[in-house]
Amino acid sequence: MFKTAVNAWVAVCACSLIASFAAQTNPQAHEDDTTALTAPDASGIVRTVNINGPIDLNNPFFKPLGTNGRSCSTCHRPAQGWTITPDSVRRRFQESRGLDPIFRTNDGSNCAGADVSTLPKRKAAFSMLLNKGLIRVGIDVPLGAEFVIEAVDDPYGCGAPLTAASMYRRVLPSTNLRFLSAVMWDGRESSAATTILEDLAHQASDATTGHSQASLDLTAQEAADIVAFESGLFTAQAVDKDAGVLHRAGALGGPTALSQQPFFIGVNDPIGLNPTGAPFDSRAFTLFDAWASPRHDDRYRARTAIARGQELFNTKPITISRVAGLNNETFANGVTVPATITGTCTTCHDAPNAGDHSVKAPLNIGLSDASRRTPDLPLYTLRRLSTGDMVQTTDPGRAMVTGKWADIGKFKGPILRGLAARAPYFHNGSAASLKEVVDFYDTRFGIGLTPREKADLVAFLRAL
Ligand code: HEC
Ligand code: HEC
Repeated sequence: MFKTAVNAWVAVCACSLIASFAAQTNPQAHEDDTTALTAPDASGIVRTVNINGPIDLNNPFFKPLGTNGRSCSTCHRPAQGWTITPDSVRRRFQESRGLDPIFRTNDGSNCAGADVSTLPKRKAAFSMLLNKGLIRVGIDVPLGAEFVIEAVDDPYGCGAPLTAASMYRRVLPSTNLRFLSAVMWDGRESSAATTILEDLAHQASDATTGHSQASLDLTAQEAADIVAFESGLFTAQAVDKDAGVLHRAGALGGPTALSQQPFFIGVNDPIGLNPTGAPFDSRAFTLFDAWASPRHDDRYRARTAIARGQELFNTKPITISRVAGLNNETFANGVTVPATITGTCTTCHDAPNAGDHSVKAPLNIGLSDASRRTPDLPLYTLRRLSTGDMVQTTDPGRAMVTGKWADIGKFKGPILRGLAARAPYFHNGSAASLKEVVDFYDTRFGIGLTPREKADLVAFLRAL
């Protein structure tokens, strides 16, 4: 039954797969084809399967449900790993002279309600969206917060009151949702009392009133239809230009294997939160085990590089310290994580072959620190009411949800599949490439990766 659904899907899209191969030099080819299950990307081909059958373009996901012409698929595009890339946004800007529904001033422009009356004004107003694919997430400082926003150094001079913050964030992929443990970068659509499916229904409604400026919430049926649709999607890199098809010669890459990957909240948790009691296995990724021992065909160099990258991801020791949310944190089971631990990439990216954290784990790995600010980001100065302490950050992260000082700069680690299709990375798009992601970790945690180890890690990440 399950198999048939997947096969039907493959049959529907065989044509599109062939077209994608042919169109590799022309990345525009599938830009507006929302049924595209395959699309060329920076290092090969990304592919989506829907375990519920063919894509139903009548699903409310694809329909403008609000007042500004936007649908979910305005920002969640199959060809870009169900998010948006700056290249694709710039193409839309050129084709529409900046009038496509993604260019709306409620959250597409740097400042709310920006002047967009002329083309040059639109180019300036939407620069964060055009340059890094960032959407403005505006959130009020929560009532009863432990801090106030003391000042903001705002490169756009929006003149917004200090009772709210504008945070410029990457659109998260609306696919592979079965592996989620928290919804949104800051987990704001999740709570201890709700399931992920409930969170997603709520999220869909909020997205409609927020991004699409609807005056009414979605009906329960519309929300259920959207959640049923998006939670049937599985997306992964299917073909790597050097290693070839990623599920050949014993490897388990690509979206079909992913759609069969078991997951439950707590699976493979490193600090003992797995409800089955099973111990943590740092080898969270096993997709490319079969490629570890070289066979001498023309793909073997690329394939063994991916296998070496997977081994580094699973086992390369990383000294993890000063990560708020992990170091010195005491968890529900009474375990306190020391100030310094030796871990791996999979200490944080522990969900097997998915790569997010299998329990809610907002972490501060330093990406929004003042020291990493780029001139296009605002810099907020927060003052702790009880002590007068000050902290500067480009995005307070989870603290804007909980009001807690300790939550400043905390974000969830996203699902690490279909990465090659959706640069740039991190919540603020600060890493333009997977190479820059690896460089960030090498610097932040002083790992001491050699150039070859970095290249192997990149080869692995882009094959996910
Ligand atoms: C204007 C662009 C835009 C539109 C339109 C939009 N989204 Fe999003 N979506 C985003 C951004 C930005 C985020 C991440 C924001 C954050 O975490 O702070 C996001 C996050 C999500 C997530 C969370 C995924 C995760 O890993 O936590 C889901 C699911 C999602 N959107 C589904 C939808 C649905 C369903 C709709 C239509 C009802 C929709 N989106 C409309 C921009 C958009
Ligand atoms: C201490 C926990 C931790 C460790 C160790 C860690 N990560 Fe992450 N990772 C995160 C968090 C948290 C994020 C999201 C951060 C953000 O955007 O603010 C993230 C984001 C990422 C992303 C970006 C995903 C996206 O969609 O933008 C990639 C890729 C990634 N990590 C790869 C790695 C690799 C490779 C390693 C090992 C060298 C590693 N991580 C080690 C916590 C960790």
